[in-house]
Amino acid sequence: MSALHAVSAHGAAIPAIGFGTWPLRGEECVKAVSAALAAGYRHIDTASAYGNEAEVGEAIRASGVPREEIFVTTKVPPPELADGIMQRAVEASLKRLGMDDVDLVLVHWPSRDLTIAETTRTLNDVKRRGMARHIGVSNYTSKLVADAWSATDQPIVTNQCEYHPYLNQDKVIDACRERGISFTSYSPLGRGDMLKDETVSSIAKRLGRTPAQVILRWHIQQDGVIAVPKSASPERIKENFAIADFALEPDDMAAISALSRPDGRIIDPADAAPEWDD
Ligand SMILES: NC(=O)c1ccc[n+]([C@@H]2O[C@H](COP(=O)([O-])OP(=O)(O)OC[C@H]3O[C@@H](n4cnc5c(N)ncnc54)[C@H](OP(=O)(O)O)[C@@H]3O)[C@@H](O)[C@H]2O)c1
Repeated sequence: MSALHAVSAHGAAIPAIGFGTWPLRGEECVKAVSAALAAGYRHIDTASAYGNEAEVGEAIRASGVPREEIFVTTKVPPPELADGIMQRAVEASLKRLGMDDVDLVLVHWPSRDLTIAETTRTLNDVKRRGMARHIGVSNYTSKLVADAWSATDQPIVTNQCEYHPYLNQDKVIDACRERGISFTSYSPLGRGDMLKDETVSSIAKRLGRTPAQVILRWHIQQDGVIAVPKSASPERIKENFAIADFALEPDDMAAISALSRPDGRIIDPADAAPEWDD
């Protein structure tokens, strides 16, 4: 199988398909991450809030794949974003992961108590201290991306947000592209909801692929876009990664993009969500 590309952003090379680990816990998480690494994934997405960093670290060590070949992302949640607290939170994540540093630390959700500038300065300090090779954000709108970009003196390399064919994210993706920031799609399969979609299914049938493969191809054929699908099944883990050897034509890309709808957003927690772009 030919290799999948990595997305470049301000010196980071982020494999276009990563393995999402929420809500995997315990032995199920170790098994799934092990299966992902065996299938060829070299990008693993975790967060302190997922309660699985120790299992992610365990599976990486057991895999035999050299640590430097795997792009590891973790995230700091809103209660831990203040100066002094974020640094300790990342140290605790590193301890659970059993690693000296991670490739990427993200602000998991924007703070409601601190300004974007305050959060960004602390995130910069996490990088300066060598705990993260790169820094980024998650669930930031186009305005928050602009605010963070103006406040930062270290490059922000990604903004991780919900994105799939039912949710248009043009505005925030454009805000990232303008600044050379990559965009990481979470819930890239819409949590599985859109795998029965007729348009997606008919394209999949014509190409001899599965609906999940077609949707993941749609993500990574967009400039600067990375996707982090989750699966607990070894077969589906393999299936989701086996997308390097085909491509969607522009007409199929456009037909899938046209599926977006106003009620397409799935993840909108009342206690954390910012005022979304749309
Ligand atoms: N930054 C954030 O705030 C945030 C928020 C949410 C998620 N995330 C990240 O994004 C990752 C992925 O998002 P997600 O888990 O919400 O959604 P997703 O990856 O879009 O969908 C996962 C669901 O789809 C199913 N699935 C996966 N591959 C499949 C296939 N080939 N065929 C049929 N069904 C398939 C899975 O079931 P099986 O497991 O049974 O295969 C699971 O139910 C998370 O794991 C997490 O790392 C980040």
